[in-house]
Amino acid sequence: ITVQVNKPGAAVAKNMYGLFFEDINFAADGGLYPELVKNKSFETDDHLLGWKAIRGAAGLETYIISSDRPISNANNHFLRLSTKVAGPDAGFVNEGFRGMGVKQDAEYTFSIYARKGAGSVSGLTVTLEEARRPGAGPETPLSGQGLAQAKITGLTNEWKQYSVVMKPSATSGSARLKLTLDGAGSADIDVVSLFPKDTWMKRENGLRPDLVQLLKDMNPGFLRFPGGCIVEGITLDNRYQWKETIGDVASRQPMINRWNKEFKHRYTPDYYQSFGLGFFEYFQLSEDIGAEPLPILNVGMACQFNSAELAPITSSAAKGPNAAGHDANHAGEPTLETFIQDAIDLIEFANGPANSPWGAKRVAMGHPAPFNLKMIGIGNEQWGPQYLERYEPFAKAVKAKYPNMQIVSSVGPSPDGENFEKATLKMRELKAEFIDEHYYAKPEWFRQNAGRYDNYPRTGPKIFAGEYAAQSVAIGSPDNKNNWDCAISEAAFMTGLERNAGVVTMASYAPMLAHVDAWQWTPNMIWFDNLTSYGTVNYYVQKLYALNKGTSVLPVTMPGKAKNGTDNLFASAVTDAPTGDVIVKLVNYSTTPRAVKVNLAGAKKMGNSGKAFVMASDDLNTLNTIQEPTKLTPKEETFSVSGSNVSYTLAPNSFTVLRIPAR
Ligand code: AHR
Repeated sequence: ITVQVNKPGAAVAKNMYGLFFEDINFAADGGLYPELVKNKSFETDDHLLGWKAIRGAAGLETYIISSDRPISNANNHFLRLSTKVAGPDAGFVNEGFRGMGVKQDAEYTFSIYARKGAGSVSGLTVTLEEARRPGAGPETPLSGQGLAQAKITGLTNEWKQYSVVMKPSATSGSARLKLTLDGAGSADIDVVSLFPKDTWMKRENGLRPDLVQLLKDMNPGFLRFPGGCIVEGITLDNRYQWKETIGDVASRQPMINRWNKEFKHRYTPDYYQSFGLGFFEYFQLSEDIGAEPLPILNVGMACQFNSAELAPITSSAAKGPNAAGHDANHAGEPTLETFIQDAIDLIEFANGPANSPWGAKRVAMGHPAPFNLKMIGIGNEQWGPQYLERYEPFAKAVKAKYPNMQIVSSVGPSPDGENFEKATLKMRELKAEFIDEHYYAKPEWFRQNAGRYDNYPRTGPKIFAGEYAAQSVAIGSPDNKNNWDCAISEAAFMTGLERNAGVVTMASYAPMLAHVDAWQWTPNMIWFDNLTSYGTVNYYVQKLYALNKGTSVLPVTMPGKAKNGTDNLFASAVTDAPTGDVIVKLVNYSTTPRAVKVNLAGAKKMGNSGKAFVMASDDLNTLNTIQEPTKLTPKEETFSVSGSNVSYTLAPNSFTVLRIPAR
């Protein structure tokens, strides 16, 4: 293999390898967003979702969802409960998200809004207790172990927030929270929260630290959010509306998750979005992990696979939103103008000064500095005339107000379909800046398509490989596995992305997160339960690419007339300007070891030894799991460099990154 070190080609984009976040598989509530109480404000359509009455020996007399003098108009349902006689066991339990994960001696802030009604209720007893996992039976019998207890006292007839810190005496991934009344009579409760103090950067409304750490460790170039199909919604009503996800956390209205009823085989009817993790928090997360934020916005279309509902295009939208357009259409049905205005307001929210209407909201949330948003996506997996007639005025209006804002356009879901080709051509005609391509296909597709961009036009739109993952069985199959066959095939494909970094400027595996007990889609990059998390073998492939990204592509040629990928050997190379390192990525998709000689043509002085990062397994079915989270991870080795030659034997079924330092 010859790597032409003296002929560096295209620059590798600074933010080439990034992250795709979507609230699927309990990625937000029950995952990254660590609130432990499900449906804390009783505002979901089924107001008691996640809650269950316990009548106790004394008897819980009644309970109702009431709107009688609520905390606020935004939060106008609460639970009113009353007991006949004083007793320790009458109240309600909250099940959490497939249980609650709590750690021994860690601190959790319990908070609640409460007021008393008739009778002699003096307060509440709050108990964190071990429960059998949901699914064990409708009554989810207790193991009987109390983990922590606290008292809320001094209730008055007015709403007031109370809080107390709880410290569990033991670790549990399947705890539940019990609230019982002290005294006989009635009380009203709302906004019940149990939130860990140990969050990322110890923030009050912060994120789950182990998950953020896994993301940060990848050194991601960008964070795409909030999806995925969740951007579109099943209907337009169900679309993601960023304006509803900022400001006071307690006032954010929950909405049924678009993945709630998606796949019958993984039916999760309790899947709602609380929006505790909203757009402010996404921007903040991007900043924390050093990733460029990339919000994807609804183009005025619901999911084309579901309702395909469309927002009408008014003549003013076709010309662009008027200056006084703020929220003009929000009272009634949204028109395209509403969607365009949402995008324009979002840019102001992210980047605008404190004296701008939306910039002021960011400042009020505690971030005076702009988030420095540079790019937005318009639409997700949409194509055809209905997309184009909305995309065009949309992109035009954004550019008219923010000429430097980079725009990512959609071309549909399948990399091989006719619609996809047509949409791509049209996007080229429209001089789109980035085209968002998605590939969910069998592992062999990834190996066979490693050359997909080798002959792609060098001018025109850049490619954003915005969602991809090899599917071991078939797309949408619940039997798909995050196995080594998929990951090594993605590694092979990615040699092609890297070789063509002049065309492909961003790439992200999808989806990013999944709860082992509450997923709707597989495979996923990172899996977690209520206490722990792990990176799949696919995660480690992504991480190796991101940490060894380099700055310029180096041409690679195979011996004789062989082409890259022939005989299942895949290669790409980059140089890294700050260190002078040459980095060669090699995939040996075969069951035998393969000796390779890498000639660093035209290299000046290289060091005498280099570092190899190797992932290899004889068994293509190898995977990491919650039980064996690090079964297959990169291993570091050293190798010697002789002048400008490296002789190295690639292990069977391996992905190897060779880093050759400059002397
Ligand atoms: O990643 C899961 C889904 O796959 C995304 O929501 C969608 O964009 C794609 O079809």
